[in-house]
Amino acid sequence: MEKIEDKNQQQEEEQVVNPWEVSAKEGGKIDYDKLIDKFGCQRLDQSFVDRVQRLTSRPPHVFLRRGVFFAHRDFNDILDAYERGEKFYLYTGRGPSSEALHLGHLIPFMFTKYLQDAFKVPLVIQLTDDEKCMWKNLSVEESQRLARENAKDIIACGFDISKTFIFSDFDYVGGAFYKNMVKVAKCVTYNKVVGIFGFTGEDHIGKVSFPPVQAVPSFPSSFPHLFSGKDNLRCLIPCAIDQDPYFRMTRDVAPRIGYHKPALIESLFFPALQGETGKMSASDPNSAIYVTDSVKDIKHKVNKHAFTGGQESIEKHRQYGANLEVDIPIKYLNFFLEDDAELEHIKKEYGAGRMLTGEVKKRLTEVLTQLVERHRRARAAVTDEMVDAFMAVRPLPSMFD
Ligand code: TYM
Repeated sequence: MEKIEDKNQQQEEEQVVNPWEVSAKEGGKIDYDKLIDKFGCQRLDQSFVDRVQRLTSRPPHVFLRRGVFFAHRDFNDILDAYERGEKFYLYTGRGPSSEALHLGHLIPFMFTKYLQDAFKVPLVIQLTDDEKCMWKNLSVEESQRLARENAKDIIACGFDISKTFIFSDFDYVGGAFYKNMVKVAKCVTYNKVVGIFGFTGEDHIGKVSFPPVQAVPSFPSSFPHLFSGKDNLRCLIPCAIDQDPYFRMTRDVAPRIGYHKPALIESLFFPALQGETGKMSASDPNSAIYVTDSVKDIKHKVNKHAFTGGQESIEKHRQYGANLEVDIPIKYLNFFLEDDAELEHIKKEYGAGRMLTGEVKKRLTEVLTQLVERHRRARAAVTDEMVDAFMAVRPLPSMFD
């Protein structure tokens, strides 16, 4: 059963998670079990990890192994169909609100790249320049410029051009896509959209009318140049769980207009440097590490702003060890340090007080610097012509090969 969220009820419980706001109960952490329960999605357990490994004959991505992608909707249906020899397509996106992506934004894209390679399936990436123009009060032109800049960062994640279509709403919405938007819009009452997204009478109608734009890439008929005659193709959406409200709405509507419900695979939030009460956010520069940060910036941010579970003096630290539950360097290493044995070693030594916070921060700085440097090199190689090529409305003849 889909659960349609009520914003007021959410606020009463103090934990707020929606596409625009992620904050835990006062002083606490995001309670993901509660979120799964409230949203009505399922936990992604070890049996899925094993099944993905078996079906793709490759080791599961570190984000899957470590439970970063922790929830799903109907992922089992996607795998059942795949096992029967039916392919699917992937859909993900980005709202271009800032010049540079932060590390949290990279997570769904890195994971989507792995899924594309492992399952050999096509991918559509939506750049919601219209969304950010309305929510962030950016001009149309500035939103379009940011969309292209962000497309370069996305391409730098290594997507296969023969299987990937990137589009911006301002450029692509129309035709079959728009017809699907209207079909969706007719099925969603004002009361329902208020219930799901918490809009108020003060919000402009652009916001109220936006959700169908993010809904319809879930339907293959929105892309006739790619999926003509393949109306039964299933869609899998990788994203962080903040995007779930859009797809609860989509899944509610889909069967009423004759389409499959999209499946989802959803991640935890890469936390802010200050702690796990919220997600890393582009609007607070000190909470986030950007893909454009220099080695010096990264070192400074980790040393100065990362909340740690280390004790206040070395003596106490040696005696009690670090509290790993709240330690941001450990959380970050859990996302980005691929070597399982090294991660376990660090956790054991740090937790027992034999390793100091400074040593863990130093290792984290190395890991993040390597990641950001690799990204920077890849992005520098992305030309305007490549952006045009990824964004060209064209068939992808070898998208399932
Ligand atoms: P946006 O630009 O806010 O975020 C882009 C993607 O990054 C995820 N994300 C995070 N993941 C982990 N940790 C974080 N701290 C973090 N912050 C953001 C988001 O969940 C998202 O997957 N409206 C969307 C754009 C969009 C979209 C989609 C996203 C359009 N269609 C389909 C996912 C799937 C947005 O503004 O995302």
